[in-house]
Amino acid sequence: MKLLGISSISERNMREMIQAFPELLRTVKIDDRIIERAERESEKGLKGVCFLGMGGSSIAGEYVRSLLSETSPVPLISVRDYSIPRHVDKDWVVIAVSYSGNTEETLSAYREARKRSCTIFSVTTGGELKRVSDTSYVQLIPSGLQPRAALPMLLSVTLNLTQSFLGLDHTDFNEVSRQVALSKKEWVGNLMSPETLASKLNDSVPVFFAHGHLAPVAYRAKCQINENAKYTALSWEIPEANHNEIEASASYKRFSFLPIFLESHFENKRMDQRFSATRAILSSANGLVLKIGSRDRLEEMLSLTLYLDTVSLELADLNGVDSLSVDKISELKARLGG
Ligand code: F6R
Repeated sequence: MKLLGISSISERNMREMIQAFPELLRTVKIDDRIIERAERESEKGLKGVCFLGMGGSSIAGEYVRSLLSETSPVPLISVRDYSIPRHVDKDWVVIAVSYSGNTEETLSAYREARKRSCTIFSVTTGGELKRVSDTSYVQLIPSGLQPRAALPMLLSVTLNLTQSFLGLDHTDFNEVSRQVALSKKEWVGNLMSPETLASKLNDSVPVFFAHGHLAPVAYRAKCQINENAKYTALSWEIPEANHNEIEASASYKRFSFLPIFLESHFENKRMDQRFSATRAILSSANGLVLKIGSRDRLEEMLSLTLYLDTVSLELADLNGVDSLSVDKISELKARLGG
């Protein structure tokens, strides 16, 4: 498949999809009319932004929420379910994200938002979501990828749209794309190669620990390992895990749990202390630290995401599984008649 003329990606090759991650960050140019409509929402004033989406398509909203929540004057919430909370009313803006456009839960939440007269923007390749959406509120994106590999496109649109709602300057994804491509050089100096990490965690259960903007990156890593490598993984947030999970550390050896700490260059001193205290307590489980140099939090998130996506691929290869197929997800959808 030729994707907007910038990259040649086969629909049957997850490695090519992941290699194209930096390019995909700058692939979609949001329609000017959609940006105008989003800016109009900002001028009118809004009570909050609600992101809808499941699985790979939900990650974009999670990343945006974690980046902007601290400074946003209105709540940013993410819904991964059939219905939206009662307080989401006509003064809220909803962004429905579904790569296929046919995900039952997202469509159901979309319909509910419609009944509540929310302003709804959709981000999709087509399907039912495109059909039910108001044509001037749909940002179409190129099809042919697995939804989880489309994260860079879904994220660039979702972040820039949300920035318009909040009256913020747009992130320049051309520049972000350049920096994330460059971050691969860091893998050599500061991180073990994705192949090495994959072989280290093979036969263990990786348990990702992270805080703040890196918490959804930990969750994404867990999901990519599940879907690409067909392999179990867990993710926990610090500080919450300091109040429960840490008590389970004695069982880590028994279950071959391997803690992996995603640490940020943008943490305050107290949080750094929490990470090192947590590592000390879990030390018998031989944990690993992943930290990558970046100019800001978004680039840190995306550079780590690209690295961990690649690890999930190497793990799939090590175990001889097809990283592309998601037979169980398809089987479940079929069993439910979706
Ligand atoms: C498959 C994948 C899944 C889908 C999910 C929802 O690559 O990542 O997690 O994202 O089943 O489907 P969409 O994204 O089409 O709404």
